[in-house]
Amino acid sequence: MKRVDDFRLRLGSHEVVPIMVGGMGVDISTAELSLEAARLGGIGHISDAMIPTVSDRRYNTKYVKNKLQQYKFNVANSDKSVVQFDLGLLAEATALHVGKTMEAKRGPGLVFINCMEKLTMNAPKDTLRVRLKAALDHGIDGITLAAGLHLGSFALIQDHPRFNDVKLGIIVSSLRALQLFLKKNARTGRLPDYVVVEGPLAGGHLGFGMDWAKYDLAAIVIEIRDWLKAEQLDIPLIPAGGIFTGTDAVNFLELGAAGVQVATRFTVTQECGLPENVQQEYFKAGENDIEVNQTSPTGYPMRMLKNSPSIGDGIRPNCEAYGYLLDASGNCQYIEAYNREVAAHPDARRIKVYDKTCLCTHMRNFECWTCGHYTYRLKDTTRRNEDGSYRILTAEHVFHDYQYSTDGSIALPQE
Ligand SMILES: Cc1cc2nc3c(=O)[nH]c(=O)nc-3n(C[C@H](O)[C@H](O)[C@H](O)COP(=O)(O)O)c2cc1C
Repeated sequence: MKRVDDFRLRLGSHEVVPIMVGGMGVDISTAELSLEAARLGGIGHISDAMIPTVSDRRYNTKYVKNKLQQYKFNVANSDKSVVQFDLGLLAEATALHVGKTMEAKRGPGLVFINCMEKLTMNAPKDTLRVRLKAALDHGIDGITLAAGLHLGSFALIQDHPRFNDVKLGIIVSSLRALQLFLKKNARTGRLPDYVVVEGPLAGGHLGFGMDWAKYDLAAIVIEIRDWLKAEQLDIPLIPAGGIFTGTDAVNFLELGAAGVQVATRFTVTQECGLPENVQQEYFKAGENDIEVNQTSPTGYPMRMLKNSPSIGDGIRPNCEAYGYLLDASGNCQYIEAYNREVAAHPDARRIKVYDKTCLCTHMRNFECWTCGHYTYRLKDTTRRNEDGSYRILTAEHVFHDYQYSTDGSIALPQE
């Protein structure tokens, strides 16, 4: 019986263990987690979500405080179009996070950054260009384009000296999305180095509608694999979403996948950014405690624990401090939902908003408990402590379990 370690993922001249730990914003897939994946010979991801905010927490900068100071006059205004990111500071924060992570990298693996198009930041093209360029300038090994179709993203960096040697990948959830991506980026003369095929059981935002349960990851992977073959395109495929054991991974590798992207199993590791009390919520969750809802203002369905503090919370929009989801005209669906509830309950001290959430604030505070479908199985991957809590794992333990396990088994940590 084969195990993941019998396979290798080849990306140009690099050969790595075919396990990619997926990007998890906001700083859930930390530098430490990505560095462990790289040390162990696989691929880890940091995330470019809210980097100035992450930088304040990690590196003692003051980007959020200063931005709030600058735009304080606008806090009570429902029109947020004046709230802009300073591109120089955005580049600086990205440089800091990417640079410090890459300096600390050891071992044979790679560290990539997950770059989300849906972080429109009131100037979608300019802020995306700055984030991509700063990551390239500061030595990132690869960029995974996520949360969007990225039809113009290669063009934003095609003049960069590293454009042809950095690894560039795209996350898609359908053959159609891949075809569109390839067509629109073709004029840069470059193909992606890998394609992550993300199915409906993943964590975070989904590339499906609320009918996500109708779709099957293996079927999408086979469709894309066969199409690439017919087109004589040799691009490594990396399925993601619900790959919970080494054996699940081997099944995809035997289908012709080049590697797998996994995330949920790593949410309960020491290196993950989630606070321990949140990790215990993930462990405790049963199947019925998880839902896919439409509270994200991005418009994409998102999977999360039903007891996520973000759900129903009616905090005043925090765009002057954050504002990562403001579209090109300075709108966010949460602002509209919040204003509607304020107008409907003018005397309430604290309002409730159920249909949308202030995702920036709640992701920043680890209060939107987004998770993969199989989060309810995490309790079977560890032991209980004497006080009844679940033992937090190490990323090395989980990585090695994916790499070496067989027969659908999951190794528990040592007694
Ligand atoms: C807590 C959490 C946060 C996530 N955040 C992001 C994100 O910011 N960007 C992204 O492209 N994918 C995100 N994902 C998706 C993962 O990178 C990955 O593709 C997927 O969850 C893999 O499926 P699995 O969790 O079942 O292993 C997230 C997943 C989880 C569990």
